[in-house]
Amino acid sequence: MHKDVKNRTPILSMRNVSVNFPVKGGLPFIKKGVIQAVSDVSLTIKRGETFGIVGESGCGKTTLGNAMIGMVRPTSGEVIFNGKNLYALSREEFKTTRRAMQMIFQDPFSSLNPRFNVYQIISEPMFIRGEDDDETMKERVVELLELVGLSADDLYRYPSDFSGGQRQRLGIARSIILNPSFLVCDEPVSALDVSIHAQILNLLNTIQQQMKLTYVFISHNLAVVKNMCDSMAVMYLGKIMESGSSERIFKNPLHPYTQALLSVVLDTVVGKERELVVLKGDIPSPINPPSGCRFWQRCPQAMQGCKTIPPESIEIEEDHFVACHLVNGFPDVELPSNYDQLVAEKPTRTHSMH
Ligand SMILES: Nc1ncnc2c1ncn2[C@@H]1O[C@H](COP(=O)(O)OP(=O)(O)O)[C@@H](O)[C@H]1O
Ligand SMILES: [Mg+2]
Repeated sequence: MHKDVKNRTPILSMRNVSVNFPVKGGLPFIKKGVIQAVSDVSLTIKRGETFGIVGESGCGKTTLGNAMIGMVRPTSGEVIFNGKNLYALSREEFKTTRRAMQMIFQDPFSSLNPRFNVYQIISEPMFIRGEDDDETMKERVVELLELVGLSADDLYRYPSDFSGGQRQRLGIARSIILNPSFLVCDEPVSALDVSIHAQILNLLNTIQQQMKLTYVFISHNLAVVKNMCDSMAVMYLGKIMESGSSERIFKNPLHPYTQALLSVVLDTVVGKERELVVLKGDIPSPINPPSGCRFWQRCPQAMQGCKTIPPESIEIEEDHFVACHLVNGFPDVELPSNYDQLVAEKPTRTHSMH
């Protein structure tokens, strides 16, 4: 259910966050380098909203989510959570602040320790915190089991006794045991049968309302994002291409990449007919990403300047940001007098991938 989030205050913002990973080159003739998993990302997430991150596999969604909650330290940039600069906190402050931020993992099969029973799995974050006795922990675990649709009878069962959907319910219970305020859901239904997606998504919605949680919802499934998210960011090769109100983006996608992603699911998601945009080639490597706009090699509407000038993200209408020269015009560059016509005619591809 979409909420009115326009006037809410920020809970988390990122300022120019980049995350690079060193390339582990074992062989001497392979040049070592860095993987630019997340590049210069700035965004603001409002209290109580669901913020979607979409994009193809490998574009940096998980890394961005990890950087938000203190699991991956950015190479540069700032993460501000509740007004505090997360990565500038003292060790002690960082530890307590981080408790308010949790993650639900994609794969409920590998994220639960098979040798722990349900009680041990769910209570572990409480156990590590070390402030509660056994009785209190047990009460809390039973309360959470009931909240996620399981029961006290399940306390001493093991993960292998449960179905995929039930295991994800256990994962959810574990992630909320310390009463977080900010939850990153990293593809929470992607590993599950389609038939149980709705139950788990409904459960997440119920928990959000009850606990007044802010969600970051990572997904490559646009139909799910459309249903779940108030705001969203579309990522490509470590960068945000388009962001803002998800309603506006689904109604009026402006970036050629968003248009291409949406064109594949239009019938079911947007419900209007639009030409299918097929992108040629594969996603380039994040080790040596293209200069200029990262998308230019695959963009059906790329112009000459897109190869060299990186586009800035500009608010094109209220709460709708786009990083694309086609939409924003080139900065300080005179556009050809027939620019509008060129745009309308969708200029031909300037580059083709093999
Ligand atoms: N710990 C890591 N070490 C090295 N490279 C990584 C690490 N985590 C992710 N990457 C690389 O960073 C890029 C982004 O990955 P990821 O954030 O997992 O993308 P997504 O979640 O969108 O699939 C990929 O090229 C991936 O191989
Ligand atoms: Mg991922």
